[in-house]
Amino acid sequence: AGATGESLRTPIVAVLGHVDHGKTTLLDKIRGSAVSEGEAGAITQHIGATAVPLETVSNMAGSLVDPTDFDLPGLLFIDTPGHHSFSTLRARGGALADIAVLVVDVNDGFQPQTVEAIDILRRTGTPFIVAANKVDTTPGWNAQEGSPIKQTYEAQSDRARSMLDENLYEVIGNLSDEGFSADLYWRVQNFQKNIGVVPLSAITGEGIPDLLAVLMGLSQRYMKEEMAVDISGPGKGTVLEVKEEKGFGATLDVVLYDGTVREGDTVVVGGTNEPIVTEVRALLQPRPNAEIRTEKRFDKVDSVAAAAGVKIAAPDLDEAMAGAPVRVVRGRERDAVVEEVRKELAQIEVDTEEEGVVVKADTLGSLEAMANALKEAEIPILRAEVGDIAPRDVAVASTAGEDVHRVILGFNVDVLDRAERELDETGVKLFRDDVIYQLVEEYDEYVEEQKR
Ligand code: GTP
Ligand code: MG
Repeated sequence: AGATGESLRTPIVAVLGHVDHGKTTLLDKIRGSAVSEGEAGAITQHIGATAVPLETVSNMAGSLVDPTDFDLPGLLFIDTPGHHSFSTLRARGGALADIAVLVVDVNDGFQPQTVEAIDILRRTGTPFIVAANKVDTTPGWNAQEGSPIKQTYEAQSDRARSMLDENLYEVIGNLSDEGFSADLYWRVQNFQKNIGVVPLSAITGEGIPDLLAVLMGLSQRYMKEEMAVDISGPGKGTVLEVKEEKGFGATLDVVLYDGTVREGDTVVVGGTNEPIVTEVRALLQPRPNAEIRTEKRFDKVDSVAAAAGVKIAAPDLDEAMAGAPVRVVRGRERDAVVEEVRKELAQIEVDTEEEGVVVKADTLGSLEAMANALKEAEIPILRAEVGDIAPRDVAVASTAGEDVHRVILGFNVDVLDRAERELDETGVKLFRDDVIYQLVEEYDEYVEEQKR
């Protein structure tokens, strides 16, 4: 992506939906990789970002997308976790996006997280289309690898076709119950008034050409004005993850949703205690079609324009928090930008009590999600913070009065060596997991045991 004011901003496409309905598999198919298989418990734990260039889109979409019809650089896909504990992360994913794909398993239909995702889309006013996924699981299905849905549809037996139709009309009915008028996408004239439903399979690729064609068409037709913003201005983004990289120390994986970030720019990032002010030492961009969460090779670039996933290397990022805002200062008052970041952070707060457990999580979003899950389970929190488990956390937990509160719950975090020793000495119990509901369950079981 060029950094001139003339180029159009890449649309951000959020992929939302119920757990296991196929969001990551769909993106895997589009980018030609296999991220889904490498995930813990096959549940997406973090928001990820993948830039898919126009060339890839048009190759996959075949005759349905003529690249000369488009001047958009491609699409930036954001994969979001489907488990209900991630509602807050997903809300951020939803709000970040220009357009969304709501993935629904045609056999499973609408599920709680589908409805939750629709609520987020409604609340944020995000236009969306529905991917009616897993059509290949229809009994008697005759798969047509990678073909447009019309072609596939015609290749099916009457019986398979009518079974699929039944499922599709159910989905359309569900959308109607939610107050959205919807129809199969080829019958939709005005995508601003009606929701288009695209039947597809993330495994066989059938219907994916249609999905890409609709996404490109929608972005180009209805959102061109929003895409034609001046992307040479100071960059704005959200931290997806803080990661150690050899030779760089702590770095940030960022989704840049506005403006440009350049090497040497002063940036303000949300930190554990205070906003961090630092200078960009290097910008590392994942290759096209690579998922920033799993990519190991990056290209070093001078500048990156929105929308993009980018790794930022800079000094003093150890205390940066995943989920926090990133702002380029360029041409503005540094203090005003610091204040902006501070205000945004103040909106994300966890209720704590006098008595309760200590919670540590890897990102602001997951901390918020943990806090929500604990609240639902009526487990009080004494302190909640982003970061690995440190001796200080053990010291805090050891002051709790009741045994059931002399506990640290760690989500997706490591234990520092010195903290390990403190745990032994104080007898503070540690529970760690990378699936939120399992962590809550483990703790609940422990509390039950203590009662006996
Ligand atoms: P979370 O990230 O946990 O919310 O789930 P997800 O929506 O990303 O689902 P994921 O892509 O991990 O897929 C869940 C399971 O469904 C995997 O076993 C996939 O192989 C399977 N699956 C996804 N799409 C299809 C499809 O189109 N057809 C078939 N047969 N299986 C699919
Ligand atoms: Mg997933």
